[in-house]
Amino acid sequence: MSAQTDIRRRTANDIRARKGGDPIVALTSYHAHTARILDPFVDFILVGDSLGMVMHGLETTIPVTLDMMILQGKAVMRGAKQALVVVDLPFGSYEESPARAFQSAVRVMKETGCGAVKMEGGSHMAETVRFLVDRGIPAMGHVGLTPQAVNTIGGFKVQGRDPAGAESILDDARAISEAGAFAVVVEAVVEPLARRITESIPVPTIGIGASAACDGQILVLEDMLGLNDWVPKFVKKFGSLAEHIQGSVQAYSDAVKTRTFPTDDNVYKPKK
Ligand code: KIV
Repeated sequence: MSAQTDIRRRTANDIRARKGGDPIVALTSYHAHTARILDPFVDFILVGDSLGMVMHGLETTIPVTLDMMILQGKAVMRGAKQALVVVDLPFGSYEESPARAFQSAVRVMKETGCGAVKMEGGSHMAETVRFLVDRGIPAMGHVGLTPQAVNTIGGFKVQGRDPAGAESILDDARAISEAGAFAVVVEAVVEPLARRITESIPVPTIGIGASAACDGQILVLEDMLGLNDWVPKFVKKFGSLAEHIQGSVQAYSDAVKTRTFPTDDNVYKPKK
């Protein structure tokens, strides 16, 4: 009764075991094609609810639904064969109670086949993380700037600059890791705080705009590739895909307008 494949997919436990070891490489993906391309280079792929802003042009992640996450989670699972795939639980699908979070996470895991879910929030989510982990659902935490809370924190801005704020984020990361999270995303905090969190918790910290003092890094793929007009200040662009696409579309448009398209190479030949 075993389903054997040549490649063993990474698990949440593999990621947890990397604490303090080789830096963990992660990116977001929402599609089969990008997941296929990333797969050999990353330890895990996050199907982030950032898809609402990046793919759908929404202003925040608040409107993203569980169905949207499941649809894109399935696509990523078809593309990625070796990376752990983690799917975000969207706003409103988990905060109400541990039981509600369990129901949402079960749907995500059964329908996508992913290996873990991620939830935003600190100490107040610890009980929920424990509830999920005790019932067989690997959970990743997310502290610091938590975009689903944009309306209460007043914008997408660096968190924990003042001593009280920094202590509170440190407490959040501790509470989530003690509750059984296998890794914690730390978003938009200054380097000394990222370093303190990384030194204080027994599971890997995955930084985004949180300096190199983390156990790993994650970026939104489209931001890092230079596909979006606007990217957060902390994002280093590793590509200029928008310009590349514009160049290719211009070449295509020129070929159509000058009737040099299609060429002999790509027309169907009449049957003899
Ligand atoms: O939704 C997302 O893409 C994320 C990353 C930015 C960590 O949560």
